[in-house]
Parts: sequence; C-alpha cells; structure tokens
Amino acid sequence: MSQSSSVLVTGGAGYIVIELLNDNQQVVIVDNLVNASYEAIRRIEQITGKKVTFYKVDILDKKALLQVFRQHPDISSVIHFAGLKAVGESTQIPLDYYYNNITGTISLLQAMKEVGVKDIVFSSSATVYGDPPIIPIPETCPIGSTNPYGRTKQFVESVIRDLCTANKDWNAALLRYFNPAGAHPSGLLGENPLGIPNNLMPYLSQVAIGKREFLSVYGSDYPTKDGTAIRDYINVVDLSRGHLAALKKLADKPGCVEYNLGTGHGSTVLEMVHAFSKAVGRDLPYQLVDRRPGDVTNLTANPSKANKELNWKAQVDLEETCASLWNWQSKNPNGLEDCPGDAPPESVINYL
Ligand code: UFG
Repeated sequence: MSQSSSVLVTGGAGYIVIELLNDNQQVVIVDNLVNASYEAIRRIEQITGKKVTFYKVDILDKKALLQVFRQHPDISSVIHFAGLKAVGESTQIPLDYYYNNITGTISLLQAMKEVGVKDIVFSSSATVYGDPPIIPIPETCPIGSTNPYGRTKQFVESVIRDLCTANKDWNAALLRYFNPAGAHPSGLLGENPLGIPNNLMPYLSQVAIGKREFLSVYGSDYPTKDGTAIRDYINVVDLSRGHLAALKKLADKPGCVEYNLGTGHGSTVLEMVHAFSKAVGRDLPYQLVDRRPGDVTNLTANPSKANKELNWKAQVDLEETCASLWNWQSKNPNGLEDCPGDAPPESVINYL
C-alpha cells in the first residue's frame, strides 16, 4: 500500500487503529460511538503519539459516508467492524441486528461503489460455523449459524461474496474471529462492557476486581476433559495484526477470501478460570451451573490458511493475554468513561 492512500475503518475506535498507525498507514475512522467513547480516541492518540482523523458517523447514513469518502479521496480500502455484536441480545431484538448489521453494510458497500473503493476487510465471526462437525475448523467447513447475530455475519459474508463474483475488480477478506481476549499491553485500552458482561473473560475480570461475586460456569457435562466447553481465545493484538495482514493480502487482488483468525489451540472454561486466576494471583470463585442455551461444545480454529496465505500467526500466549487483561482491568476498574461535559478530542468531526 502506498503512503498516499488511506484506510477507512468503520466502528474502529480500538486496537486495529493502533496497529495501522504503528504500521505508518493513514487512517480515517467512522464510528457512531454507541459502543465506544471519546476517551478511547484520546488513548489511541496517547499510545501511538499520532493524531487520528475521526468522524462521528453512522454507517446507515450513506450521505454522511459519501461526504467522508469525498473529503478523503485517498481512501483506497475499508476495514469494516461497525455493527451490533451480542449473541444473546440479538435473539431479543433481531430486527435491530438485521437492520444495523446488514442494511448498514449495504449502505457502506453502496457508498464504496459510488466512489470506486473496492477493497474491504470484513470482521466476521466463528459463530458462522454453528455447531461444527470438524475440529479444528477449516474455512471449508459448512456454515450455518444458530442465532440472529451469527446470521447477520453469514448474510453479510454472502452479500460481499456475491459482489466480488459479479465484479471481478472487488476484493474482500472475510475474517472469522474466534474468541477475542486480553487488552492492549499498555493497559490504556481494553473492553468495558455496558451492564453485566455476557462474555467469559470480561465477566471473570469483573469478579477479580470485586464487581461480581463469582463466575457461573455454564455447563460441566460437555464431552471435554473437564466437562466445560472449549473455545479458541485469541489475543486482541494478534487479531489486529491479522487485519493488517489481510489488508496487505488485498493488494494481490485475491477476489473474495475467508480466513479463520484463531490460535488453533482450544481451552476449556475452567482452564481459562485457572489461567486468569494465576494472572491475578489468587483463586477466583466460580460455580458450576447449567449449560447456556445455544452454546456449542467446541469452537477451535484451524488457522493454517491464514498462517500460510497471510503470513500471519497468533503469537501471544494465554499467560500474556490474561496478564494484559488484568493489567487493563486493575488500572481501569470503570473502563473508559468520558467525564460529563468533556469536550471531544480535536480530531473528532461530528457528522451525525
Ligand atoms: N461462559 C461461562 N460463563 C460466563 C460467560 C461465558 O461459563 O459467564 C462460557 C460459555 O458458556 C462458553 C465460553 O465461556 O462456553 C465462552 O463464552 P463467551 O460468551 O465468552 O463467548 P462465545 O464463545 O459464546 O461467543 C463469542 C462471541 C461471539 C462470537 C463467538 C465466536 O461473544 O460474538 O465467540 O466463537 F461469535
């Protein structure tokens, strides 16, 4: 990628922007800030020592998106993260999920088409595999998600694939994430779920800081070594580097390609509890309870396609991932909160 081109990141006030800036890429961010804060932007600038170009824009607003593209004619590719992302919530408010994730992506793709930007990296999810018959899971495994959130990812994959089939000058990398875990090693950037966390690691870290009494371990009768379910926990910085590698791959004009971003190593819930307890320095309380509806036994990636074709491999081990999460959580017990009345950082342009 030439130095004169920029990458548009949607929903991107996070780790990937840090990796892009560290790689000396020019970055333009659009985010509606529903799930992010101005403070995240300040922290990104603090970590990288660089200013970001940030537009407060909802991708459903195609007119505003077009204004951003026209303001930055050097944008030559898009990394698309924007979307709603809670599996449980998606079963309660499916229309919101289908509208935001599918209609939002179509609005983005239409804007890209209008300005002639044809390279996209899309954040998909391992949840598209449903309950996979093959472990570790190759990209060729049949897909079929079991919840509305997963189906939005699956449908968007199809929309992008069809677009690339119809127009040979479009290129796309569909990145199927396994379970993102950990935080930025600086301790300045991490996850801060609103309300009660749904996911294992954020919940466990709130147990560690005393916000929650104990972890409920969902299911101890799975056919695994300790009876708890297996997932492939991938460090957030490794995951971000996977995006950078995928973006570079698009320069080869590969058409539409899918990649698993995982470590290839599965861990049970109890193994994660023990690994995180070790990082914290004391045993964290948990109780074995019934399975959570919709959970599957094992989601472990076969990452060899990404290893080979993207020249990318997850490098951070579980110990370091758990240490980074604890570093972040203990330094920021309330996450990244904007102080009331705080002015947005200078780099923010409000198009909402
Ligand atoms: N778990 C618990 N207790 C909790 C939370 C989770 O035991 O309080 C267990 C779950 O039952 C599961 C494992 O920990 O066995 C991981 O659960 P998460 O909720 O952290 O993650 P999921 O695997 O359910 O889902 C995540 C993302 C999805 C994504 C999927 C892809 O939330 O967006 O990974 O694998 F699609």
